[in-house]
Amino acid sequence: MTQHTPRVALVTGATSGIGLATARLLAEQGHRVLLGARTESDVIATAKSLRNDGLDVEGQTLDVRDTASIVSFVAAAVERFGAIDVLVNNAGRSGGGVTAEISDELWDDVIDTNLNSVFRMTRAVLSTGHMQEQGRGRIINVASTAGKQGVVLGAPYSASKHGVVGFTKALGNELAPTGITVNAVCPGYVETPMAQRVRQGYAAAYETTEEAILTKFQAKIPLGRYSTPEEVAGLIGYLASDTAASLTSQALNVCGGLGNF
Ligand SMILES: NC(=O)c1ccc[n+]([C@@H]2O[C@H](COP(=O)([O-])OP(=O)(O)OC[C@H]3O[C@@H](n4cnc5c(N)ncnc54)[C@H](OP(=O)(O)O)[C@@H]3O)[C@@H](O)[C@H]2O)c1
Repeated sequence: MTQHTPRVALVTGATSGIGLATARLLAEQGHRVLLGARTESDVIATAKSLRNDGLDVEGQTLDVRDTASIVSFVAAAVERFGAIDVLVNNAGRSGGGVTAEISDELWDDVIDTNLNSVFRMTRAVLSTGHMQEQGRGRIINVASTAGKQGVVLGAPYSASKHGVVGFTKALGNELAPTGITVNAVCPGYVETPMAQRVRQGYAAAYETTEEAILTKFQAKIPLGRYSTPEEVAGLIGYLASDTAASLTSQALNVCGGLGNF
């Protein structure tokens, strides 16, 4: 009987929230996973904890704003595991404020972290990760419902995520004949450390409590609650599967009905 070679997946921003749930799910599906984030101690601890659960996971520090860091991350994956089958561009940051007061530094960092990173990681995987030679591949970008509609006090974030959706659609069409699919997953409100920071930011901006912001946000979601990181990871796991071969150039919401577009 032929042994199926495990597929190789890269997950950025995988020490917390959606990225962590995704790394776990892809590893549970049988992928060999290399995860990355900036904080070395978290990368080591996360990879160790997943390995303790019997999963085939390694970690390497990665700053998705830095091309040299990206190139070395992809090279490490190829050296340890071989050709890359799945890339999940998940690392991201929140960021906004009253637009007239936004600094160049904040604007540039949000665009670098959320959008330029997706292009640079993808380019590295396509040029040096051997994905194109496989005749099959999966690129999954974690955008946001803020990549489809404007978010008040979130202009840089919304702009970066709209950019990710546009990049996804263009690249999906470009790569369709190669067997590589490219899709965006658009979470709405997902309970993670980032979501907590976002609530803190709005509480400060509107001079109210975080609890009041939580109640206001939950009231906007038809489901009445935040989604979980595992619910977002579930769609990513499906997009990584063979059954999802004809699904490309799409931006799919996981948002409890928040966005129906
Ligand atoms: N939570 C939500 O409600 C929500 C909604 C829509 C979309 N999203 C998107 O989902 C993705 C994950 O969000 P989350 O809520 O799971 O966030 P999170 O809990 O804050 O986790 C973010 C992860 O990204 C890493 N990271 C941040 N900047 C990085 C950089 N420059 N290079 C490499 N890694 C970096 C963080 O580790 P280090 O800090 O150590 O680098 C961490 O592992 C983001 O793209 C976010 O925009 C989230």
